[in-house]
Amino acid sequence: LFNYTRKKIMYNERVIKEFSNPQNVGEMKDANAVGTVGNATCGDIMKIFMKINDDGVIEDVSFQTFGCGAAIATSSVATSMIKGKTVDEALKITNQQVVDELGGLPAQKLHCSVLAEEAIKAAINDYLTNYKKQK
Ligand code: FES
Repeated sequence: LFNYTRKKIMYNERVIKEFSNPQNVGEMKDANAVGTVGNATCGDIMKIFMKINDDGVIEDVSFQTFGCGAAIATSSVATSMIKGKTVDEALKITNQQVVDELGGLPAQKLHCSVLAEEAIKAAINDYLTNYKKQK
């Protein structure tokens, strides 16, 4: 298989599974919530799209990233965790919960998990300020 120990970073099997076959990848043309954030540590970028209905429920969510494997794995899990949830519930999801769901990340990759949490918050903020107000 592949050598995932390059640069002495060891990912667990769940993380490898998620970034090898990530869920919810891609652009969403009819999104009413879009959040883009950059990671100050590495300069990578994450974009999250959501379709939020009138009841404030996230009906669909997807992501695009120029981030690393850990960013892809955490975004895959984070987007799956918030699908079907209300915006209030989604705002409470922390990067630590996502990391726990993944069974942990190497310490030097923890900063990558912050991207998904921040992009979710940015997308919901976009919805609340730009979309919901216009209705
Ligand atoms: Fe940039 Fe992981 S190294 S997101």
